[in-house]
Amino acid sequence: MNLNRRRFLALAGAAALAPRLVVAQQHTDLGVRKIRLIAREENRSMLDENTSTRLWGYSENELRLVQGQPVEIEFINELSEPSSVHWHGLRINNAMDGVTGLTQDPVQPGETFVYKFTPQDAGTFWAHTHHRTYEQLARGLYLPLIIEEPTTPDYDRELVMMFDDWRVKQDGQIDLDSFEDMHDWSHSGRLGNVLTVNKQLEPQLAALAGERVRLRLINAANARVMTIRAPLPGWIVAKDGQPLTDVAPLRGSLRIAPAERYDLLVDIPNEAGAILPFGFDYQGQFYEIAQIQVNASASESTARGEPKPLPANPIYMPSKEPEVQLKLEMQGGAMRWLSEATYKGERLSGRELMQRQQAWALNGIANMAEKPMFDVASGTLVEIEMINSTAWEHAMHFHGHHFQSDSANYPPSTWHDTLLMAPQERVMILMPADNLGKWLIHCHMIEHQMAGMKTWFTVS
Ligand code: C2O
Ligand code: CU
Repeated sequence: MNLNRRRFLALAGAAALAPRLVVAQQHTDLGVRKIRLIAREENRSMLDENTSTRLWGYSENELRLVQGQPVEIEFINELSEPSSVHWHGLRINNAMDGVTGLTQDPVQPGETFVYKFTPQDAGTFWAHTHHRTYEQLARGLYLPLIIEEPTTPDYDRELVMMFDDWRVKQDGQIDLDSFEDMHDWSHSGRLGNVLTVNKQLEPQLAALAGERVRLRLINAANARVMTIRAPLPGWIVAKDGQPLTDVAPLRGSLRIAPAERYDLLVDIPNEAGAILPFGFDYQGQFYEIAQIQVNASASESTARGEPKPLPANPIYMPSKEPEVQLKLEMQGGAMRWLSEATYKGERLSGRELMQRQQAWALNGIANMAEKPMFDVASGTLVEIEMINSTAWEHAMHFHGHHFQSDSANYPPSTWHDTLLMAPQERVMILMPADNLGKWLIHCHMIEHQMAGMKTWFTVS
């Protein structure tokens, strides 16, 4: 086949040969961890300290679980509408995936659902609503989900930076009237006018001079791809929770699509009192969105050089030829409007689709197909040629699985649960399908998902 394909297989082979640390599936000796997580209203300041913005959120600021330790999370819905929780990127039991309409019924106001699973991968993940996501996510129903390694890798501190982009009105409240704006849905998705880090305006984080810090970066925006400019050089050590087998130097800025995560290791300079500004690059301008304040440390540290990779997770690319080869074509949207597509089993014209708020399609089908896009036996290696035939970027997300790609925009050993595709780009992906159940594939620009960019597959 083509060059891409050859480079790709070489890459898959190399990954298969890399040494792996095998992690026991279940550390029952740690016991079952029990956590209560309440979805409820909360207030934050999205304009200035004097305004209180009504948001939705969870009763915890973040969830920290331990790799291999079983957990039971009692989710209580104290909101006025049904909801659910999706554990984005975790390769867990299908019934716990939190997708209403596919893996569970919505959790009604006042009701409870107990999510039980054992995280098998350590890394940076996130949890978010998966019910009326376009609205509930934009109102703040998300939190960082950190799965710790059983023993901490070599660094001194970690900082989580979860980015979001809010559409806030003059009075400081979330713009609720534009959730179903068809212009947003058929163009770039809902973009906001206020950027936050950890739901705060320009927070100041702190570290000690000379420390090596693990930064966990998460993009929780509905649709905005963020270009983050870190004030100090470092290394990318993981993407979407999965460690890179070779750490990749980070210079300058990093583009992070909605739902993507990057773990960086950075060395804080020996300059007590310094303020390190984190920026957001936008149309050639630098906007400061957070700072790290450098505090004095008791001991001077010396340069440590390139870090070792994080301990590997139990994920493997089999060294065999793919058994199933498929195409997934992204279609439609502004400037490449659909002339027709199938929606709920009916062939409709572009105009009829727009009347049903559908502007995008995957392989000629807008929104959930009646049959899965593919149905494979567990253990099948699936190769998919991803073709973006639209004029827009898309952050393509697969549930319950990770995959590798030949995209030139990521370091070579990257595993993805989300992949950013440029307009007109073609990328080959290889996915070991090994998690039983029904899994979604969708664009994580949530308005694109709502307006058609969504399908599913099954592993049996
Ligand atoms: Cu992060 Cu289907 O979701
Ligand atoms: Cu999209």
